[in-house]
Amino acid sequence: MTTKTFLITGGAGFIGTNIAEKLVSEGQVVKVVDNLVGGNDKRLPKEVEFNKLDIRETEALAKVCEGVDVVIHLAALPRVQFSIQHPQETHDVNVTGTLSVLEAAKKAGVKRVVYAASSSAYGDQEVLPLSVDLPPQPKSPYALQKYMGEEMMRLWSEIFSIETVSLRFFNVYGPHLDPEGPYALVIGRFLKLVKDGEPLTITGDGEQTRDFTHVRDVTRAVILAANKDTVGKGESLNVGAGNQTSINDLAKMIGGKIEYVPARLEPKHTMADISKTKELLGWEPTVKLVDGVEELKKYFGLV
Ligand SMILES: NC(=O)c1ccc[n+]([C@@H]2O[C@H](COP(=O)([O-])OP(=O)(O)OC[C@H]3O[C@@H](n4cnc5c(N)ncnc54)[C@H](O)[C@@H]3O)[C@@H](O)[C@H]2O)c1
Repeated sequence: MTTKTFLITGGAGFIGTNIAEKLVSEGQVVKVVDNLVGGNDKRLPKEVEFNKLDIRETEALAKVCEGVDVVIHLAALPRVQFSIQHPQETHDVNVTGTLSVLEAAKKAGVKRVVYAASSSAYGDQEVLPLSVDLPPQPKSPYALQKYMGEEMMRLWSEIFSIETVSLRFFNVYGPHLDPEGPYALVIGRFLKLVKDGEPLTITGDGEQTRDFTHVRDVTRAVILAANKDTVGKGESLNVGAGNQTSINDLAKMIGGKIEYVPARLEPKHTMADISKTKELLGWEPTVKLVDGVEELKKYFGLV
């Protein structure tokens, strides 16, 4: 890959840190913008230029965008349940913030924006696997906000000639996952509960399924989307492992006592149809869940 300058918004977060590490290891120039409401800038590689900034500060963001070839837009308040409790605050960051990123990128003459979209946009569908051709049916403010971001990506590419591509991530897990707090993602939460000697709390009957996708595979998809000529016209693509695992099965894989708690508002099943992603990016997932979970157990000091 030729050397490019990348700006990762939300780059101090879980997925952003993984992408920054990979790009730096490939000799790319990496800037990060993050206001540190989450994430941790201390674990970023020292080669990264870190800018503590809110993405809604369009003018300041446009300055950071100068000389940037590709913006990887990850900054968000990314939790479904949090968005139900805080619909306005999350809208402001996830929608107005995304608009600000597009405007800053446009102003600075950035060539391409790769956007972290979400599988939550699908909601509950009649059919599986979930194809990007299905009409989205968001079931939470977060899902709607992330989908609005996708639509903005598509539109800005059409009317302002900035290249954009949206990648719908499916339940990402792997190193740098944050296991803390009430909104922690399920694998991180389970591993923390095991570490603390607590039972694994499963919402509902545990038969809901998710398509757990390793962050190394997600990182590879993002870098391909940043570089390939086959995309850039506002496409939406699924980035999922293409498997279904129930929360009960995940709990068995992790091990430990189980406690069932009341169900919450969330889609019942997700599984990605990745045919279009394979076709346009030449991307395929490589990490099996059982291997990724074993690796993460070591990462959390459990084995
Ligand atoms: N983790 C998943 O399973 C998953 C699935 C689908 C989509 N996504 C999307 O991927 C992206 C990254 O997710 P993640 O899991 O790494 O989340 P994360 O919370 O670890 O990272 C998000 C980062 O954004 C930063 N941020 C929040 N508001 C900001 C603002 N106003 N200005 C600047 N920075 C701000 C936070 O400080 C944090 O470091 C998000 O857009 C999320 O919606 C994630």
